[in-house]
Amino acid sequence: MTSLPLRLGVNIDHVATVRNARGGVHPDPIRAAHLAVLAGADGITAHLREDRRHIRDQDMERLKRQLFVPLNFEMAATAEMIGIATRLRPHACCLVPENREERTTEGGLDIIGGAEHLRPAIGELKDAGIRVSLFVEPEIDVMDTACELKAPVVELHTGTYCEAVAAGDEVKIAHELARLRRAAAHGASIGLEIHAGHGLDLQSVGPVAAIPQIAELNIGHSLIGEAIFLGLDEAVRGMRAAMDEGRRQAGSPAAPGGTAP
Ligand code: PXP
Repeated sequence: MTSLPLRLGVNIDHVATVRNARGGVHPDPIRAAHLAVLAGADGITAHLREDRRHIRDQDMERLKRQLFVPLNFEMAATAEMIGIATRLRPHACCLVPENREERTTEGGLDIIGGAEHLRPAIGELKDAGIRVSLFVEPEIDVMDTACELKAPVVELHTGTYCEAVAAGDEVKIAHELARLRRAAAHGASIGLEIHAGHGLDLQSVGPVAAIPQIAELNIGHSLIGEAIFLGLDEAVRGMRAAMDEGRRQAGSPAAPGGTAP
């Protein structure tokens, strides 16, 4: 099949992590967002966590005011976050699970067990004109449930695949890629827009970028880490090039970096 254009959403959470380490204003995550866009990011992602450990309310306000590219507001489906999101009206909200003790988001949302809690949250966000995405495990029944919940977008959790790449476990890599490919194909066939993310780096991104139904990758930690050595501009350009190369190797033309509406 013909590949969709592949967008890059840059997650700037960890610029805020460094800023907060000293309690001041430097480095400014909004400055990082502007630089990432100049380097080829199609959108910016930021996760406002319940404990405000990195991104803070004022960061979301400034991102919403200043960005000319889509803002993807990652959040837990709590009343507080839904209140903030429906007031700010970002382009998109990606609903994620959130545990206080976790270092980062661990696993996809349980949208099957949590369907009744999520249904009104999805409805409220959609009524505010926000494109809702569910961060989920790459499984067929999960795609069906996302569709039934009337979420227009799913973001496939790539963390398990990325762990397999880091461990050099070829059997697990093949298994996890097959899960991602199957879920992406099935999800797209029932009308979902497919995104993917978590843990992606230069080593792991190619085969995921090659999955033709995937329209967007959201990447943070590896990019901000590389930016320490290369600068953010070069880190984003390098990731963009690796994504485009992954797609090209799948036999499709390289995707232009168009932005979502
Ligand atoms: N997508 C989602 C839903 C996430 O929660 C995260 C981490 O905040 C990412 C993508 C980006 O993951 P990473 O920082 O590992 O690239």
